[in-house]
Amino acid sequence: MNEQVADFRAERTNLTELAGLSKEPVSLEPYRSQEWFEREVNQIFKRAWLCLGREERIANPGDFFVQKIEVAKTDIIVTRTKGGHVRAFHNVCAHRSNKLVLDPEGNASRFICRYHNWTYRNDGELIGVPDQKNFFDLDKKSCGLKPIACDMWEGWIFINLQPEPEVTLEEFLGDFGEIYKGIPYLNADKSILFVSRLKANWKVIADAFAETYHIPAIHPETIGATFASNENPFARPISAQTWGPHRSVSTYGNPAYAPPEKAKVERLFYSNTATGNVLSAASLEDTQVLLQHPAINPTKSESWAVDVTWMFPHFQIDVSPGGFWTHHFWPVSQNETLWESRFHVPDATDIWSRLQQEHYIARLAEILLEDVGNTERTQEGIDSGAMETMPLQDGEVMIRHSLHNVRKWVEAATVREALAK
Ligand code: FES
Ligand SMILES: [Fe+2]
Repeated sequence: MNEQVADFRAERTNLTELAGLSKEPVSLEPYRSQEWFEREVNQIFKRAWLCLGREERIANPGDFFVQKIEVAKTDIIVTRTKGGHVRAFHNVCAHRSNKLVLDPEGNASRFICRYHNWTYRNDGELIGVPDQKNFFDLDKKSCGLKPIACDMWEGWIFINLQPEPEVTLEEFLGDFGEIYKGIPYLNADKSILFVSRLKANWKVIADAFAETYHIPAIHPETIGATFASNENPFARPISAQTWGPHRSVSTYGNPAYAPPEKAKVERLFYSNTATGNVLSAASLEDTQVLLQHPAINPTKSESWAVDVTWMFPHFQIDVSPGGFWTHHFWPVSQNETLWESRFHVPDATDIWSRLQQEHYIARLAEILLEDVGNTERTQEGIDSGAMETMPLQDGEVMIRHSLHNVRKWVEAATVREALAK
């Protein structure tokens, strides 16, 4: 582990140096080059373990969802078998390769292909072939669904598109997997989904959620006064950690925050948590266990808002005093991304909590629009070729660490080499 604690009052924080990263401006080519993008697809997205989300999405035997990974031209069925195991298969019929499952999610103990009615159990086994005798010694056993490597960590589902993954999920996660064990993910079974296709490189979108330097500029009316204050006017982070290709940053929260007089609705629902938190839909009592976990707000700062944890390559888990949310940044092409964001909230138990949640959701929508509103314009600027590089400040350390590891994976002949120190 590489732990870095920053004094935001210093003239300049030193997270970049402590993470052992270069302080030079970084190249913009990885954001606009078609050739580089193809290398990212082959070297990163087809070799890394990719998190698909929470297992609660398929809580019961028979539950399934379909995950499309457009850049790999792959459609994946993720199922919970009768025995309770989570399995992943290519969504392709073994007869003439028709797409098997058309619903995005559901519950089914078997899948029937619409073309000629071949039938599969949800553990992949082929169990029914109409007029089987008219085939030529068809071996049903060898005609099951084609499996995709799938493994679990702390209730998170991961897949790997390598036919034989070079490293295990445990090896891929390394120290990060140990340190983040035992976190209670509150309301993991319930989420509000925000989804959008944006005309920008996947890293442009991921970068937009990886630093708080933008907060005073982009979010002055919404969360500006939550993440910045007189003592920390530029929302500098309070600490950062890196573990191999994975990273996390703890962001500053204004402990003295209270909604302004004119924010009548926010004042109505605001619950002061003494940590500057307003991104919340759960009570502080519910989140006590979460807050005590050593990996969360690792410096146990009183001035803390959110931990942004970025699992290589394309997935972020954000933890705040109110619970957690996630971002997926699925590349579509070098300048298009499918962005999915899930906010986990408890069931509303009365009218008051329902109203509080509605307010939370409306507020989120506004904040997220502020976040992604710049991304397409940024991509246009990058594509113009006007700039060769971008200078990154210390608070943008996660972007640097991301690019450093993207390059490492793109250039490494093997996954082990990409993961080596
Ligand atoms: S293609 Fe699926 S049954 Fe023929
Ligand atoms: Fe933001």
